[in-house]
Amino acid sequence: MEPLKGLILSGGRGTRLRPITHTSAKQLVPVANKPVLFYGIEAMAAAGIEQVGVVIAPETGAEIEAAAGDGSRFGVNITYVLQDEPLGLAHAVLTAEAFLGSSPFVMYLGDNLLQGGISDLVATFREHEPDALILLTPVPDPEHYGVAELADSGQGQAGRVVRLLEKPSAPVTDLALVGVYMFTAQIHAAARAISPSGRGELEITDAIQHLVDEGRRIEPHIVRGWWKDTGRLSDLLEANRLILDNLIGRIEGELIDSRADGRVVIEAGARLERTTVRGPAIVGAGAQLSDCYIGPYTAIGEQCTISGAEVEHSILLAGCSVRDLDGRMESSLLGRDVSVRRGDRQPRAYRFMVGDNSDISIL
Ligand code: TTP
Repeated sequence: MEPLKGLILSGGRGTRLRPITHTSAKQLVPVANKPVLFYGIEAMAAAGIEQVGVVIAPETGAEIEAAAGDGSRFGVNITYVLQDEPLGLAHAVLTAEAFLGSSPFVMYLGDNLLQGGISDLVATFREHEPDALILLTPVPDPEHYGVAELADSGQGQAGRVVRLLEKPSAPVTDLALVGVYMFTAQIHAAARAISPSGRGELEITDAIQHLVDEGRRIEPHIVRGWWKDTGRLSDLLEANRLILDNLIGRIEGELIDSRADGRVVIEAGARLERTTVRGPAIVGAGAQLSDCYIGPYTAIGEQCTISGAEVEHSILLAGCSVRDLDGRMESSLLGRDVSVRRGDRQPRAYRFMVGDNSDISIL
């Protein structure tokens, strides 16, 4: 088999993660203080893939290029592929055809996280040589996903894929497609053969269905570990929780009259005064915390300033400032340089300056 290439989809609109995506790519939102996209690139590198194509959109492409660079720091070689419009996952594949050539490849959605990486899947793909391999996981709400129906092989194993459906209203299976796929070059002709769906996108499920209809062998693989699509706030927080669960503690910053309980990372240059951090939690480089409680599953970005506040189960991007809060902040996502503080003016009232599509919840 030709060497496998990698394709990471990092375009898209990201409407479900507004307002963050008004100003930034959702693939660069940090999970445990590392951009989601980097986990995908690292998974490719760990699986021995050297050539990685990253599909980018005109609005956020430059930011993604600046963040991931030429890939050398991950041990891969990155080629950027501009997709003018987010016309679907199969459209993204076609856009990258010149980069992919006749190579088999792993396609990875840039806002997805897959526990355990892809090395085992790559090995299975090489060994079994199917026409495509798709990853599946049981979900409680299959109507929100692309799903696959399988036929039993008769040996008690997940047999072969017989039908794929995008967000079915009455699903007959709970097996959702995970955002990692392995394809041979046959997928290009399949993507060309299909028409846009009701939502105007060239769906990868339709392209794979086309392969099924042609009698190709599509191998299903049920993932054992967790998988998260970070395209929504609740899932992003959950991904942050899952990654922090495996955090290895490390204190490089300064603790003054402060405690770090459990697995806590305090990066260099961070300074904590009269503060308790209960892990798993991470505090980024240069952050300044005083008179705070930082609870489990919190990721505080670089150069954040927090004083007189309690924060738990939240993600704060770089440069945020949180001051003098009466109540605990939890399950929150703050974009870059956001300021949250108790006002000192009378009358006691809420005062906001927030961007489009922001979401504020007050008791
Ligand atoms: P989605 O999350 O399905 O789509 P989206 O980014 O447009 O988000 P939303 O539904 O919130 O508006 O996309 C999955 C991944 O694939 C994500 O990393 C973006 C990327 N993508 C592309 O690169 N090109 C595309 O045409 C599409 C639809 C998605």
